[in-house]
Amino acid sequence: MNKNRREFFKNAGMTGAALLTVSGIDHVAQGQTVTPQLFPHRILGTGKNAFEVSALGFGVMGMSYNRGIHPDKPALIKLLRQAVDRGVTLFDTAEIYGPFVNEQLAGEALSQFKNKISVTTKFGHEIINRKGTGKQNSRPENIRKVAEESLKRLKIEVIDLFYQHRFDPNVSIEDVAGTVKELIKEGKVKHFGLCEVSAQTIRRAHAVQPVTAIQSEYHLMHRDVEKEILPVCEELGIGFVPYSPLNRGFLGGDITEYTKFDSGNDNRNTLPRFTPEAIRANLRIVEELHQFGRTRGITAAQVALAWLLAQKSWIVPIPGTTKLSHLEENLHAAEIAFSPEELRKIETAVSKKEIVGDRYPAEQQKQVGH
Ligand SMILES: NC(=O)c1ccc[n+]([C@@H]2O[C@H](COP(=O)([O-])OP(=O)(O)OC[C@H]3O[C@@H](n4cnc5c(N)ncnc54)[C@H](OP(=O)(O)O)[C@@H]3O)[C@@H](O)[C@H]2O)c1
Repeated sequence: MNKNRREFFKNAGMTGAALLTVSGIDHVAQGQTVTPQLFPHRILGTGKNAFEVSALGFGVMGMSYNRGIHPDKPALIKLLRQAVDRGVTLFDTAEIYGPFVNEQLAGEALSQFKNKISVTTKFGHEIINRKGTGKQNSRPENIRKVAEESLKRLKIEVIDLFYQHRFDPNVSIEDVAGTVKELIKEGKVKHFGLCEVSAQTIRRAHAVQPVTAIQSEYHLMHRDVEKEILPVCEELGIGFVPYSPLNRGFLGGDITEYTKFDSGNDNRNTLPRFTPEAIRANLRIVEELHQFGRTRGITAAQVALAWLLAQKSWIVPIPGTTKLSHLEENLHAAEIAFSPEELRKIETAVSKKEIVGDRYPAEQQKQVGH
C-alpha cells in the first residue's frame, strides 16, 4: 500500500465514513486517462431503502441557476466529469433549476456514467411556459409527468432518488408518497426524498413509502434541523443531505459587502442575509472559521464542510461550485476530523456572533417547514 493510499484509509477512518471504496471511474476525459481515486462513502436511509453515495455530493444547481455568472457549457461538463474522476457519486439537480437546463446539463455530462454514479432530482414546483410560478404542484399526475420528463433530460432509465422539492398545501403528503411508491414499483424511481418539511410530515410520508433522505438547509449559520428533523431522521433511519452547506458560498470567505450578485440569475440579491449590511456583520462568523482553520492548515470552506460531516455518519453535504480548485478544496473536507473539543470550540465561537438577516424573504419562508 503506498503512502497516499495509507493516509487516505487512516483519514477516512477518522472521519467515521461509513464505507470506503474505489469509487472514481476510470475514464478518458479530454483525451487523458484518469486514475480512479479513493473517496469515502456514506449510506443514506436504511434496509431496502439504503442508498450508498460518496460522503460529499455535488450540487449542480449553481452551474446554471441562482448563482450568477458561470463558465460555458463545455467547461461545466468537464468539471462535472472531473468530480466523477475524483470519486463523487452523488449529483443533485431539479426540474425547476433553469427550469430544465440544469437537468439537461447533468444529463449531457453524466449519463455516460449511469449505474456508477447517481443524479438525484426533484419535483413539485409549478412551471408554466418554462417559468416557475412560485406555486407548488405535487398532484400525482404532475409528479408522474416530471418523472418521465426528468428521465429524458437526464438520459437515464431510473431516478435513483426523487425528492418533493417543496410541500404542496393542496395535496396530502400521503398522496405524494403513494405516487412515488407507484413509480418505485414501476421501476422509474429507486428512492424517495423530501425537502424542508416538518417532522410530522416526514413521519406521515415515511408510513406510506419509506423515505431515504431529507434535503434541507443546514450549516453553521442555520442549525434549525438539529431540533426536530435530525432526531426524527435518526429514529426512522433516514439520511440527511444538507443543501447550501456553505450558506450559498458565504462560509467559503470569498463574498464581501462589495460582491455584486447578477440580478438576472442570482437569487442571493433577494435574500435578507446577503444585503451589504448583513454581509458586513456576518463576516465576523467567517473570520472565526478562518481563525480556526489557520492553525490547522485548512480553509474556511473545509471547516464548514468537515463540521457538517462530523455531525452524523449519515449526513452527505452537496456543495456546488464552478471551479476545479474549489471542488478539490471541498472534497478534502472528507479527510478532516475534529475532536469533540474542537467541534465545541468552533460552535461556541460561531454562536457568540449574532446572525444578521433572515435566510429567506417572507414569501419563500412560508413554503418551508410544513
Ligand atoms: N432542496 C432545496 O430546496 C435546495 C435549495 C438550494 C440548493 N439546493 C441544492 O444544494 C446545492 C448547493 O447549494 P448552493 O449552491 O445554494 O450553496 P453552497 O454549496 O453552499 O454554495 C455554492 C457557492 O459557494 C461557492 N463555493 C464553493 N466552494 C467554495 C470554496 N471552497 N470556497 C469559496 N466559495 C466556494 C460557489 O462558487 P464557485 O462557483 O466560485 O466555487 C457557489 O457560488 C445546489 O446545487 C442544489 O443542488 C437545494
